[in-house]
Amino acid sequence: MPDPAPPAPSPYPHRHLLGIEGLSAQTIAGLLDLSETYVELSRQVDKKRAVMRGRTQINLFFETSTRTSTSFELAGKRLGADVINMAVARSAVQKGETLLDTALTLNAMHPDVLVVRHGDSGAVELLSQKVDCAVINAGDGAHEHPTQALLDALTIRRRLGRLDNLIVAICGDILHSRVARSNIHLLLATGAQVRVVAPPTLIPKFVDRLGVSVFHDMREGLRDADIVMMLRLQTERMQGGFVPSLREYFHFWGLDQAKLEAAKPNALIMHPGPMNRGVEIDSVVADDINRSVIREQVEMGVAVRMACLDVLTRNLQDVGGVSP
Ligand code: NCD
Repeated sequence: MPDPAPPAPSPYPHRHLLGIEGLSAQTIAGLLDLSETYVELSRQVDKKRAVMRGRTQINLFFETSTRTSTSFELAGKRLGADVINMAVARSAVQKGETLLDTALTLNAMHPDVLVVRHGDSGAVELLSQKVDCAVINAGDGAHEHPTQALLDALTIRRRLGRLDNLIVAICGDILHSRVARSNIHLLLATGAQVRVVAPPTLIPKFVDRLGVSVFHDMREGLRDADIVMMLRLQTERMQGGFVPSLREYFHFWGLDQAKLEAAKPNALIMHPGPMNRGVEIDSVVADDINRSVIREQVEMGVAVRMACLDVLTRNLQDVGGVSP
């Protein structure tokens, strides 16, 4: 039998996926184009490819996760990898092992890809410097969550046909949100106008330096927006009171039909989940079958993660040729 055709060159010229910051619009578009093929594949009866056959993927989640961990597991399995989910709560981490010792222990088992979520900003990058395999950041503290921004972008691009010249309002707890940060980097790189809409206590000081505009009123921030992206209050990252009460928060900052009227008539409603209904979003808009794309975001999540695993696996064959 002739040798199988060599894999196509990877559209992603790096060894790890640690963040969106610094990625070019072209690299982002390449990842989204590849993701499209995995949306189609995931809708087939046979959803499998052999891209990761023989490869080992370890998912290491130090923080809770539903969507992200499940979709990374599914993505790896659809590509033929052996996927291990390390239950940190039942691991030696609970016996005081440091992050780096855990990483070196796992590294000794020769994984090809580590998918890591950690509560501290920068922890995943630190880990990536100590291991031989590719590392994907599945969320590090309030820093970055690159695959979430990619899946959000794929959802928008499929619905509206483009990412440039759109007004995107990201609303809620910007201060503690890695989703906001990764989305800001991606959307600015691809030519969208980004607004952040939140009370002053939930906006990071440096945010206007990034090139976004800041609004402290929902109706003003949503005016003529194409996309309204809602975020959860990340109470696990808050020390002390950032909002007076949840009822008051919903009154001023929760997305409901009345506030949504300020946006474009067909504006899309997005949320990375988990949603807190009645806090940052009202059920009527969350479940609006025409405008809410929250379920679609979940579907795109699997496809985007397949694309990211695919490109990093292809790069493993040529580690010398890619930058970290
Ligand atoms: C987000 C996260 O973990 O940063 N969730 C997710 O991955 N879908 C957002 C959140 O927890 O609010």
